[in-house]
Amino acid sequence: MKRLFLGIVAHVLENPFTGSAEDCLEIIEDGALLADEHGKILARGPKQTLMAAHPDAEIVDFGDDWLLPGFVDGHVHFPQVYATAAYGHHLLDWLQTSVFPAELAFADEAFAVVAARRFVHQLLRMGTTTALVFGSQFTPATRALFEAARQQGLRLISGLTLMDLDAPARLLHTPQSAYDECRQLIRMTEKTPGLYYAVTPRFALSCSPAMMDVCRSLIEEFPDCYLQTHINENLDEIEAVKASFPEAHNYLDVYARQGLLSPRTVLAHSVHSTDAELDRMAELDCRVCHCPASNMYLGSGIFNLARHLERRIQVLVGTDIGAGTNFSILEELSDVYKAQQMYDMRLGAAKLLYLGTLAGAEALHLAGETGNFAEGKSADFVVLSSQTDLCFQERLARCTSRKDQLFAWLNMFRPSHLRATYSGGRLVIPEERP
Ligand code: GUN
Ligand code: ZN
Repeated sequence: MKRLFLGIVAHVLENPFTGSAEDCLEIIEDGALLADEHGKILARGPKQTLMAAHPDAEIVDFGDDWLLPGFVDGHVHFPQVYATAAYGHHLLDWLQTSVFPAELAFADEAFAVVAARRFVHQLLRMGTTTALVFGSQFTPATRALFEAARQQGLRLISGLTLMDLDAPARLLHTPQSAYDECRQLIRMTEKTPGLYYAVTPRFALSCSPAMMDVCRSLIEEFPDCYLQTHINENLDEIEAVKASFPEAHNYLDVYARQGLLSPRTVLAHSVHSTDAELDRMAELDCRVCHCPASNMYLGSGIFNLARHLERRIQVLVGTDIGAGTNFSILEELSDVYKAQQMYDMRLGAAKLLYLGTLAGAEALHLAGETGNFAEGKSADFVVLSSQTDLCFQERLARCTSRKDQLFAWLNMFRPSHLRATYSGGRLVIPEERP
């Protein structure tokens, strides 16, 4: 049966960094989204028009609540789900002291199955309906993550976190075991709609050239796979990469020489990338994920969005749990705003909303599926209500336009404001009771 979801409908039609921001943002007062029985969007528009045209549709009335597209988290670590808020470290020390011990716990499959359900639930509860995730080093745990995503309705791109250097032995693969186990998981994801595989070498310091060779073989053999890794996050990390790869011109060149860079590559952080590296990223059309909360938490530095955008590098936003401190892309967008203020770049409602939704879908080649409310896409959306928060209601009442209200939402969202999440037209938060 068709359904009409009523509320204030807001989304971004196209990239506001290349078009006019005003024209890219659509806010439909007294709006409606029409979804078919398969969870695809059939139409959007004023509710009176759509109700008159579809008198047989079931009505789901959210009153004055806002309906925004489901968010896209471009970088988050599953086995760090319980590892946020470790005190007092920078990247390399934090990995050894806090992260690797936390990731070892995922060797226990029963523990990992529960953690996977909670992790997926937490993302959906924050309005994320698509996520690019660093999986566990352990195949049963990463399989559990894919399974939880399938059951709970999260569109998931993930893969085994691969390392063969400089970590506790149980977290390491050999190049051969990495190849064999990744292949198994790729075969599984190929059969399941909504699941995608990302070959996931952790970063240059965790992977020998032989491990990176395996990663290249996998993306050559399975060209639909993504590749995700980290780059230029922290100055000590960059010095260590220089020392380990003296033949490379720079950090990016380590990955480039190994044939790992393409439009299906997502590089997290890029805080300290040089002009030469950015030029090359643009040439190779790799995507870059901005994770401001994590960058500030680990004291890594502040990502410069303008330097990436002026080269037309596609940028998406990630929470980077567990260096990030919240699971919500909406909260992360407020950190994006603050971080870019440091460079005198002002991001209005259209640009911020774009970065958390359509930019992610475009960067991940999923814009035919999600990212806004265009006809034919999956009905992935969140319902935001200010009812729980009197001060915020008063703040919204003082805005002079819906666009100003949206900007306030993008900076003042708290998890208690999220009333529901729909993924593919299915109510996933709160879970539908049979
Ligand atoms: N670089 C290599 N591994 C990691 C990780 O787990 N988190 C972050 N933020 N950076 C990394
Ligand atoms: Zn990361």
